[in-house]
Amino acid sequence: MALPCQRDAFLLSEEIHYLNCAYMSPLPAEVEEAGIQGILRKRQPTDIRASDFFSEQHEIRRRFAKLIGVSEPNRIAIIPSASYGAAVAAQNLPVKRGQNIVILHEQFPGNVYTWRKKASDVGAELRTVAPSSTSPKSSDWNERILDRMDKDTAIISVPHVHWTDGTLFDLKAISQRARELGTALVVDGTQSIGALPFDVAEIRPDVLIVAGYKWLLGPYSIGVAYFNSRFDEGVPLEETWIGRQGSQNFAGLVDYQELYHPGAIRYDVGESSNFILLPMLTAALSLLQEWTPHAIQAYCSQLTDKLVREVAEFGFSAEERSHRSGHLLGLTLPNNLCLESLKQELERRKIFLSVRGKSLRISPNVYNDREDIDALVEALAVAIKGR
Ligand SMILES: Cc1ncc(COP(=O)(O)O)c(C=O)c1O
Repeated sequence: MALPCQRDAFLLSEEIHYLNCAYMSPLPAEVEEAGIQGILRKRQPTDIRASDFFSEQHEIRRRFAKLIGVSEPNRIAIIPSASYGAAVAAQNLPVKRGQNIVILHEQFPGNVYTWRKKASDVGAELRTVAPSSTSPKSSDWNERILDRMDKDTAIISVPHVHWTDGTLFDLKAISQRARELGTALVVDGTQSIGALPFDVAEIRPDVLIVAGYKWLLGPYSIGVAYFNSRFDEGVPLEETWIGRQGSQNFAGLVDYQELYHPGAIRYDVGESSNFILLPMLTAALSLLQEWTPHAIQAYCSQLTDKLVREVAEFGFSAEERSHRSGHLLGLTLPNNLCLESLKQELERRKIFLSVRGKSLRISPNVYNDREDIDALVEALAVAIKGR
């Protein structure tokens, strides 16, 4: 059965049309409540037991692992940001002088800076693959990516969908090519995981990084990352006490340990047992488990498909359906549209989305409905008439 609108699960103002989940999601009421309880808990430190430092982390690992089709929860690390996850990947993936790292045109800056630095530190080439035309992006972008990967490609870092306009990347084909070449595949799932199904067994990334405050519906400053067995003997960014074996025994912490906990736990950020953020992300993951990324994608797709259909006659265009996601859409503005009058119309109707140069980024989620899309269609119709 199709997922119905879930607006009642959120405390979003009735007054606004919020179409900007790619910026950040509103907090579901249950997630907010979990955060409030988390704050209140530290009134009585005695309410926080030693075992809580581990059990709440485990709950996040377990739920996120399930969401992405991973059977071992300890492959999941708790990170404060996507950039942190990328830094762990950069620190541990070998790249030699003369090799190359492949990234995409206008990729999110946190990825670009990470790989630019890594390439420059070791004398490797940073290869940025662009589509052959930029508006809308041509369907040959995926082919161009595969063409630019070669035997010297040490790492490829890509998202599942482009953060600016939802262009969909063929991760299966990229992954297959990466395996043929011995290239490490790093996926930034920040703009997709939660709203678009992702199966680690199918895509087989080496790393999957997700900031939690967008499509995971969680709070800011916490995220999750999957690291495969390639990282089992790696070096974390921080030497935390809790990342070492035996850390559950608080009385024995000065019996210093050489060994880390197995899997990806060593890559957890310091103080990863955050007693406010962890219960919030757990509550968010539990909602996603209930709603499912598959149903969320279908829900968002019917909204964005309707939008694209209805504004095509005014001259707005989008990437072909098979090459874009349903939850994040870039609409290219007709040349003769007055951006100022469009901005005024959006403001007047309290429609929130991202305006980027000559395109609009629209990113609905399960709290949106047809009325939000109708309001946007009307605003675009008025703006085009007033040009
Ligand atoms: C693709 C992508 N990755 C990562 C982030 C956030 O990065 P960080 O968590 O390092 O701030 C964003 C935020 O917009 C994003 O769009």
